[in-house]
Amino acid sequence: MTTNAIRPHRVARLALLAALSLVVAAAPALAGEEAPGKKLFVDQGCARCHSVAGQGIEHSVKVASMVGADLGKAAPTADREALKSFLKQSTTIDGEKHKAKFKGSDEELQAILDWLASLPGS
Ligand code: HEC
Repeated sequence: MTTNAIRPHRVARLALLAALSLVVAAAPALAGEEAPGKKLFVDQGCARCHSVAGQGIEHSVKVASMVGADLGKAAPTADREALKSFLKQSTTIDGEKHKAKFKGSDEELQAILDWLASLPGS
C-alpha cells in the first residue's frame, strides 16, 4: 500500500526553498540592483520626458514643452490616487492634462509610484 504521508525530507526541502525564495526576493534591494519600478519607469516611457538624475536616468525628448520635472528631486504634490488618475489622463492637475497616457496595468503604475516615493530626494 502506498502512503501519502508527508515525508520529513520533503518538508525540509520545502522549508529550504521557502527560505531561498526570501533571500532571492530581498537580493535586488540589498545589492542595489534595479527595482521593478525603475525598470517599468523606463519601459513605460516615463524616462523619455522625465529625468531621475540621481538614478542615472536622463530624459531623451528634445522638445522643451514635453520635458517634465526630475522625479527624483521633488515628491509629487498630488496624493497617490490623484496622481494615478492624472497619469491615466482621467483628470487634470492645475487645469493641465498629463502629457502622456499611462497604458500599463494598475499594478505597474503602483510599482512606478512606489519606486519614485522610495527615492532619497523625494
Ligand atoms: C511626453 C512626455 C511625458 C511622458 C512620457 C511622461 N511625462 Fe510625466 N509629465 C510630463 C510633463 C510635461 C509634466 C508637467 C510638468 C511637471 O510637473 O513635471 C509631467 C508631470 C508629471 C508628474 C507630476 C509632477 C508634479 O508634482 O506635479 C508626475 C508624477 C509624472 N509626470 C510622472 C510620470 C510617469 C510616472 C510617467 C510614466 C508612466 C510619465 N510621467 C510620463 C511629461 C511626460
